[in-house]
Amino acid sequence: MTISRRQVLLIGGLGALGAGAASLPTGAVEAKSASRLSDSEMPRPFQTPFVQAPVLEPYATGTDPSDGLPVNYYRVTQKAATAQILPRLTTPILGYNGLFPGPTVSLDQGTKAVMRIRNQLPAQHALDGHGLSTSTHLHGSASLPQYDGYASDITHPGFYKDYYYPNFQQARTLWYHDHGVHFTALNAYSGLAAQYHIHDPLERQLLPQGRYDVALTISDAMFAASGALGYDDNSHSGLWGDVILVNGQPWPAMKVQKRVYRFRVLNASISRSLRPMLSTGDPLVVVGTDSGLVPIAQHVANYRHAGAERYEVLIDFRKYKTGQRIELRNLSNKNNVDYNYTNKIMAFEVTDEPVDTSDPTWNQLPTTLAGSEAMQLTSGQSVKTRRFRVKRNDTTNMWTINDDSWQDVIASGYKKVVADPAIDSVEIWEFENRSGGWFHPLHIHLVDFQIISRNGRAPFAYERGPKDVVYIGEDETVRLLMKFTPHKGVYMMHCHNLPHEDHDMMVQFRVGLAATDVDYNDPMTAAKAVWDNEKD
Ligand code: C2O
Ligand code: CU
Repeated sequence: MTISRRQVLLIGGLGALGAGAASLPTGAVEAKSASRLSDSEMPRPFQTPFVQAPVLEPYATGTDPSDGLPVNYYRVTQKAATAQILPRLTTPILGYNGLFPGPTVSLDQGTKAVMRIRNQLPAQHALDGHGLSTSTHLHGSASLPQYDGYASDITHPGFYKDYYYPNFQQARTLWYHDHGVHFTALNAYSGLAAQYHIHDPLERQLLPQGRYDVALTISDAMFAASGALGYDDNSHSGLWGDVILVNGQPWPAMKVQKRVYRFRVLNASISRSLRPMLSTGDPLVVVGTDSGLVPIAQHVANYRHAGAERYEVLIDFRKYKTGQRIELRNLSNKNNVDYNYTNKIMAFEVTDEPVDTSDPTWNQLPTTLAGSEAMQLTSGQSVKTRRFRVKRNDTTNMWTINDDSWQDVIASGYKKVVADPAIDSVEIWEFENRSGGWFHPLHIHLVDFQIISRNGRAPFAYERGPKDVVYIGEDETVRLLMKFTPHKGVYMMHCHNLPHEDHDMMVQFRVGLAATDVDYNDPMTAAKAVWDNEKD
């Protein structure tokens, strides 16, 4: 395998690349380190206190005159900043409000949001010099096409764009992240990612709230000797860092009471997939998937968790002893590159802080949760089955979906689509991954889907809930059932291994419109970025 000059420069240059890189793409290997940090600067598990990103407060609230619904107005500034990730060295990052990860949005179903995303980034990325024009996607939201973070709908430094989010959907864990065309991987890796929560009355009644409703944004990173982030995507195969971050801190330790906690686990890694488990062997209780609560809670010993997937899990700390440490470990999966400590994620330390037993969720492990529209669909409603194959093109070395890529979309003047479902129609989409060498987390914008089969059998217990990303493992075929609602327009579908997406495993489909209708809700022209007169 050849390593390009560009990749060598991005990791900060000194000496040979990690053993992991050199042995790709044949599969997972044990390698000493990817980072170039000296031993004394290298973080170690469970030395750092657990933190969460701050909740973003709206700067104003109002009412939408068209339907009387409340509206929260938010302002987020994308900027270069430094983060304290390592014990002593500081790390330059790009962050929403300068934070890694960015601030969490939390609101109720039925409250709309207008989010002004200001691009105050430098003109170029410090690592590779690419232009820092961005596009912001609220992953999990059925947004109109012009507010969906269409990759080529970019906002240049010095401009802002107002994104309108409907938030009519049931309770779920969403996230917003950069989607800028061809540079999503490095931009998201540099810090442009954050959680966004929609609450609803049922979810508030069944599941822990407030300080017991905990966001876990997990990512991996590698560091140059200076403390800067290193970047090596192994010829666009993927980036596997040797440091696991939770909410931007390496392997943190969190103090917990003897009660039930809810964790919103987002794998924000750009390539790595996880297989979380508890060191005690006790179950993780899956109560939510990407697009909301599951119909029936699933108790699992571990589960496979690709980039961009969200799983909401309950952990019951009632039976543990004061002072006991429980680790959240990572068993990993095929075709990740693992390092000495990538088998650990974080730790929980049980305290004797008194538990408020007047909170009914303190000991509640619900069995039946919620029916979502996606989970109520039946295959009999499907009017069409479409088949897609995900693979690397042997000639061009590009990642493709049915041999199509975003290059083809650009070359067609953004007209080319791989599917054209009617509005409100139900279809089955099948994805086949014949490669034994790669897994692909496939994300479909706009819709929530139900996984109806995996290799002809029932999906895994933990993925029997509404989804918008599906793990397509090596030699796997998955069938998805979904309804194309509620918006007409073009939407993207892509691999969420972000180096794959950028090179160029992304296509689009058109809902409810004829080919001649594409100006309707055009993602690049219907709502444009505006020059920002304010500076900060
Ligand atoms: Cu999370 Cu199209 O992205
Ligand atoms: Cu992929």
